[in-house]
Amino acid sequence: MKEKNTEKNTLTHKGKDNSHYISSKELRKIEHENFKTVKTLEKKKRRKNVPESEYLTQMRDPHNIVEFDNLHTYFFTDAGVLKAVNGVSFDIPEKSIVGVVGESGCGKSITSMSLMQLVQAPQGQIVEGSIRFRSEKLIPNGTEPMTKKIIDENGNVKEVPVLDKHGKQRTRPLYKKEERVVDIAKMPVSEMAHIRGREISMIFQEPMTSLNPVFTIGYQLDEVTLLHVPGATRADAKERSLEMLKLVGIAMPERVYSSYPHELSGGMRQRVMIAIAIACNPKLIIADEPTTALDVTIQAQILDLLRELRKKLDSSIMLITHDLGVIAEMADYVVVMYAGRVVEKGTVREIFKESAHPYTIGLQKSKPVVSSKVDKLFSIPGQVPNPINMPTTCYFRDRCDRCIKECDGNYPGMVQLSPTHFVACHLYDKKKEENV
Ligand SMILES: Nc1ncnc2c1ncn2[C@@H]1O[C@H](COP(=O)(O)OP(=O)(O)OP(=O)(O)O)[C@@H](O)[C@H]1O
Ligand SMILES: [Mg+2]
Repeated sequence: MKEKNTEKNTLTHKGKDNSHYISSKELRKIEHENFKTVKTLEKKKRRKNVPESEYLTQMRDPHNIVEFDNLHTYFFTDAGVLKAVNGVSFDIPEKSIVGVVGESGCGKSITSMSLMQLVQAPQGQIVEGSIRFRSEKLIPNGTEPMTKKIIDENGNVKEVPVLDKHGKQRTRPLYKKEERVVDIAKMPVSEMAHIRGREISMIFQEPMTSLNPVFTIGYQLDEVTLLHVPGATRADAKERSLEMLKLVGIAMPERVYSSYPHELSGGMRQRVMIAIAIACNPKLIIADEPTTALDVTIQAQILDLLRELRKKLDSSIMLITHDLGVIAEMADYVVVMYAGRVVEKGTVREIFKESAHPYTIGLQKSKPVVSSKVDKLFSIPGQVPNPINMPTTCYFRDRCDRCIKECDGNYPGMVQLSPTHFVACHLYDKKKEENV
């Protein structure tokens, strides 16, 4: 069927530029190569009883919670290999908010999905690089008898043992935490299940599609505790869920607990999503466009809530957004991505006040400013190059108004402008020589 279609396409493309055209022979070759590569990578990921030494590593800076190091995540499609994330390196320091900005399709979500090992398999695969994460492994450490609080006939609170159906006191397992650094890019799928949701959690863009419409909010919130807190009972889970709902500013937690997602407003649903994300006290929360589906007032409330929670829970947040205003208000550090690569990174002040890359400068110019009157907003001319056939030169070259002759050469390396400010642009190559 595919062959037929392709031949038809040849006729329609006759005499025209068919540089993007793939013949049926080429297609079969691509499919075969993809199948081979993907099979090897999938097999490696799904192995059982992998020795820890294969994925244990060390942090470059112990104050970081996550370090992306030269991450490459590719999609093996029938049209060729799509390099969605192509050599991304940046750090997320502990207790900080790192904003990731860039235009649609530049690989922001795929970077965060790689960190959660949630890239759509088998076509999406991490093929190179490391994602170092400071994790806490739970190690069994004995048991403790279970008790519950009741109010006796005199109105006093009493603690009584919890009994099983044979009348014996039930026990709950105890665990101690052991800190270790893991490389998520090399971790088998079975091990990642202990980290995902417990240590790293995610708030998705669209709360209506992320919540299950056939279960109550309470059921979906309890599930997190029951799954990730060893020995937790249904009563413990409910207590924790109500506490979380209160923490995210829901006034009648009992009522919301027994509601279904369609009974809540958009803002309430996003608060519930946040409650689910923080239920296990994660070290890192990934918020992928958390406010895009909400109106401006609710957006401000949700952002305030995230900021407040960061302080209360001591977690770090990776905040993905198109909105430079949100980044300026929330983030401590900013990473600017373009076509699967980091073009500039630095503190929020450096990116907004001393932006260096022509793309970052263009992004800022295209943002409306209330105080200045303009007839037409600035837009960066041109388009992102085809992700399957990336040039070897700077990807921004064809859209850049500050091109120099070095831009015809290879893709620029990262130049350090300050201890925290880095830019990948040939305009700053001189600075690189000075630094050396
Ligand atoms: N399942 C998939 N199969 C093939 N290609 C994909 C898949 N998912 C994403 N991509 C491609 O990977 C690239 C990066 O996508 P990604 O979702 O990370 O972009 P993004 O920066 O999050 O964009 P947005 O701001 O629109 O959410 C895009 O070119 C996209 O087309
Ligand atoms: Mg996205």
